[in-house]
Amino acid sequence: MIPVNEPLLNGNEKKYLGECITSGWISSEGQFVRKLEEEFARRVGRVHGIAVCNGSVALQAALASLDIGPGDEVILPAFTIISCAAGIVQAGATPVVVDSDPLTWNIDVGQIEEKVTERTKAIMVVHIYGLPVDMTPALSLADHYGLKVIEDAAEMIGQTYKGLPCGSFGDVSTFSFYPNKLVTTGEGGMILTDDDKLAERCRSLRNLCFQPQKRFVHEELGWNFRMSNVQAALGVAQLERLDEFISKKKRMGRLYTEALSEIPGMQLPLPQTPYAENIYWVYGLVLDDEIPFDAEEAMNRFAAHQIGTRPFFWPMHEQPVFKRMGLFNNVSCPVAERIARRGFYIPSGLALTDEQIARVVQALKDIMS
Ligand SMILES: Cc1ncc(COP(=O)(O)O)c(C=O)c1O
Repeated sequence: MIPVNEPLLNGNEKKYLGECITSGWISSEGQFVRKLEEEFARRVGRVHGIAVCNGSVALQAALASLDIGPGDEVILPAFTIISCAAGIVQAGATPVVVDSDPLTWNIDVGQIEEKVTERTKAIMVVHIYGLPVDMTPALSLADHYGLKVIEDAAEMIGQTYKGLPCGSFGDVSTFSFYPNKLVTTGEGGMILTDDDKLAERCRSLRNLCFQPQKRFVHEELGWNFRMSNVQAALGVAQLERLDEFISKKKRMGRLYTEALSEIPGMQLPLPQTPYAENIYWVYGLVLDDEIPFDAEEAMNRFAAHQIGTRPFFWPMHEQPVFKRMGLFNNVSCPVAERIARRGFYIPSGLALTDEQIARVVQALKDIMS
């Protein structure tokens, strides 16, 4: 079986994990946590890094740090992971979705302004699959309407927009270190900001809002979102290889695109936009409407070839859980709805070999013929 993703853990991971064991520092108090926070923030050009236990809670803490709650609306893409809308709903705020750009699959920035109301408090910008969101118009809209920007750069570690690092644009920016990400800690995440107060708030929210002076007296409720030293040790080793990982992903994307361009009937990821080269966090495909089967059938056929795939995200406004809550009535996002049904991604992990890529290409030729 070719897995849809497999991480590469053959750098200093074992060495640093060994240091955790021999020193006995395995909790969040260990040195690797601080080191990962500092080095990750430096890499993205931000002042503060706050390590957390995954990318979903990073969004929760970001929302809470910006005081987003009941009565507030947050604009986000329809086409994204549930963590984004779940965080907003769990904060008591209302998610307002925007359709996708048909070529990049990112939020269609041109459609954001029509969703702004008096209640809009923030835009949650989410970079999807390999290309960043067109940030310049998104940021000027936020500036014009006085909105906060939460930048979800979970999938975009090491990517840039107009040469500036993804994760450097949000009032608060968040990342995930799940094993399919460009830097992994097994489970983990990071919050970045330049604002001292927001950073302090996120640190406190991450750590149950213990108070420095009166530890067990609480003025506010937080969560235990801490990352352990063991996880951070992995992250420090992974971050050392980020440039190499980005090159590997770009090469994978190039090999797939060269081989798949000749197969008719599907849309491939754009190799670049005017503001970024694709880093192929995952290599997605969208079947043309003329193809007589959908993504689900294509994925079944891949499974018969012993090849793992994943469906594209299912749009937020079509989630049964939100429908039952009475959210997104009469909302339609035709592009997101279409790519959710016609799109899936093929093996894209860092450990993927050229032989495996060739097998995936051959299987796709069989499936499409
Ligand atoms: C865009 C985006 N945001 C948030 C998350 C959530 O991260 P985690 O799985 O670490 O909770 C993911 C995870 O894949 C993601 O792709």
